[in-house]
Amino acid sequence: MPIHIPQNDPQRSLRAIKQKLGSTFEELIESGQYILGSQTTAFEHAWSSYLGVEGCVGVANGTDALYLALRAVEIGPGDEVITVSHTAIATISAIVRTGATPVLVDIDPQTYTLDPAHLAGAWSERTRAIVPVHLYGGMADMDSITAFAEERGLVVIEDCAQSHGSTWGQARAGSLGLLAAFSFYPTKNLGAVGDAGAVVTNQPDLLDRLRSLRQYGWDGNRVSQMAGDNSRLDELQAAILRARLPQLDLENDRRRQLAARYDEDLANLPLRIPTALPPVTHTYHQYVIYVDERDVLMRSLAERGIGTQVHYRQAAHQQPGYTNLVRCVGHLPVTEQVVSRILSLPMFPALLDLEQDAVIQTITTYFGA
Ligand SMILES: Cc1ncc(COP(=O)(O)O)c(C=O)c1O
Repeated sequence: MPIHIPQNDPQRSLRAIKQKLGSTFEELIESGQYILGSQTTAFEHAWSSYLGVEGCVGVANGTDALYLALRAVEIGPGDEVITVSHTAIATISAIVRTGATPVLVDIDPQTYTLDPAHLAGAWSERTRAIVPVHLYGGMADMDSITAFAEERGLVVIEDCAQSHGSTWGQARAGSLGLLAAFSFYPTKNLGAVGDAGAVVTNQPDLLDRLRSLRQYGWDGNRVSQMAGDNSRLDELQAAILRARLPQLDLENDRRRQLAARYDEDLANLPLRIPTALPPVTHTYHQYVIYVDERDVLMRSLAERGIGTQVHYRQAAHQQPGYTNLVRCVGHLPVTEQVVSRILSLPMFPALLDLEQDAVIQTITTYFGA
């Protein structure tokens, strides 16, 4: 029988808890509350206590979470926000939506995250914030980034869409910046069955602003005190996230186990395995190798039934819709080199050992090793 191994398959983990989700759905229908009810409040509490932060505001998706976090600290036209070009385009789209200019710096060649050595060159009188993106389940160098931000009075907003449960020492991703944005898109380490997102912070005044911004800028009397949006987390997604949260640490352990096996068995091949530098505990949202002639390997694996993906094939500054809306600090040589050589291998908690064996065997044979 021909093999088919997907690069990611959230359906398998969801099937395993289908019964539990079925009763959650029934309870929800009976509750009569479908927007901003008890499920959302309970998930917001559960998520903030998991992260060790003061509070959480559930919103419609991860892009909105970033946008509303930026709005909460009044970032807008004329401001500059430093981030990376090697990220999901959503990071850039959220900044552009505020009217601010994304200022893009190069990444560290080992971790593929924001290289703090470029922050000084990116800074201007207009700089208001830094958005480090904790890509693939790793984390940006938060000690250096927060030190730089403190020195210059800048806000740090973590993009945690790919780092649910990752840690920097004892601190969880999302607890180190002034604010942090999460996506619960179905393929994320903690995923909903539709769009969902959240903003977290330790500051009660920012939590109040976010609750207002996600509903038209309303105060308690439903009068808009500022311009806002409709970006609410719905009860069904909140209920599903609540049901799935208790498995997150176990699922992240499984991801680390799969990563350790890839690390060991691919280490001697002509490719580079991902780097996880202390004090980061990586959660392998993606397992990304760096390899010459990436597309040839990708095609060869596809012909043998093995799914891979490229996250991301074009950096933000290379994409026509955004080229003229961003400012790059230099030519971003590491970013441009990395996007042509990275390849995300099959990685999800329900990936079977036997399937991983087949992936490793196929890659090893490809290299004639
Ligand atoms: C790094 C990063 N930032 C932001 C987002 C935006 O999340 P969403 O798709 O929920 O809007 C994503 C997910 O796509 C992401 O991977």
